[in-house]
Amino acid sequence: MSEVKERKDYTNGPLCLSGRGVTRIFGHGEKANVAVDHVDFDFHEGEFVSIVGESGSGKTTLSKMLLGLLPISEGEILFQGKPRDISTRAKKAEYWKGIQAIFQDPFASYNIFHKIDAVLLDCINMRGGKNLPYEKKVEMMTEACSFVNLKFAELTNKYPFELSGGQMQRLMIARIFLLKPKILLADEPTSMVDACSRATILDMLLNLRDEIGMTIIFITHDIGLAYYISDTVYIMEHGKFVEYGKADEVILNPKAPYTKRLISDVPKIHEEWDLSTVDLKDDY
Ligand SMILES: Nc1ncnc2c1ncn2[C@@H]1O[C@H](COP(=O)(O)OP(=O)(O)OP(=O)(O)O)[C@@H](O)[C@H]1O
Ligand SMILES: [Mg+2]
Repeated sequence: MSEVKERKDYTNGPLCLSGRGVTRIFGHGEKANVAVDHVDFDFHEGEFVSIVGESGSGKTTLSKMLLGLLPISEGEILFQGKPRDISTRAKKAEYWKGIQAIFQDPFASYNIFHKIDAVLLDCINMRGGKNLPYEKKVEMMTEACSFVNLKFAELTNKYPFELSGGQMQRLMIARIFLLKPKILLADEPTSMVDACSRATILDMLLNLRDEIGMTIIFITHDIGLAYYISDTVYIMEHGKFVEYGKADEVILNPKAPYTKRLISDVPKIHEEWDLSTVDLKDDY
């Protein structure tokens, strides 16, 4: 375990994305549902942050607000220390250059009528590479594919639906490799693949973080996985952050009853990650 956790400290770098009192209310009056309830957060450059909570706790709602896909009801989001302004299409487009997402269903992320080389070429064009010679573009696509153990030559003429779920997810990471965003938001990106590919994908994300210094916001139900992979964890219950901090501190010494309950639910597979030393004696 210790060799896995020995990493550069990314928790003190410059601020990348922050929130103050960020709230989302669905519906009105008696039917109002406060899905995200006055959350505060500070995510730093290169930091791997996990947001952990059960189904319905507000994780996806928060990620949509972070992405600028859903208006916030109250509070504010700051990008690189300044209030985020996405009030016009042009400003939104500029913001989206810096933030990319991987969603639960990789099949939903592609235009199924575009062949794979078109998917990757789009990324190069979006990064201002439109006028590069074609050979240079092929070189970049080949490099991105080999970063995720895919062979570009075998993919060029295929459509996304001709790939397996695991290959699709690796292709999504190849896109991120080309796009090099400041922030990557990953909402349970590994749910479709088996445990082995899941470890590989997370490893690739960590390598990419080290390579380009991107902040990763990882949304998951799995507190054991969050412990293994993250610098920082935010524990979300009913739309609120009930606890947050460095992954080791929160998970090896949880304070909130909800965190303790999540840890006690961790399946046996995670015991080797030494969650057994956690003090669970409090009643809740
Ligand atoms: N578009 C919407 N309209 C109304 N209510 C919504 C909408 N989207 C989410 N909600 C509600 O907001 C709450 C939080 O939902 P959200 O999808 O953010 O949870 P989650 O933590 O992502 O859950 P899961 O782990 O199952 O993906 C739920 O009560 C949900 O019913
Ligand atoms: Mg969700």
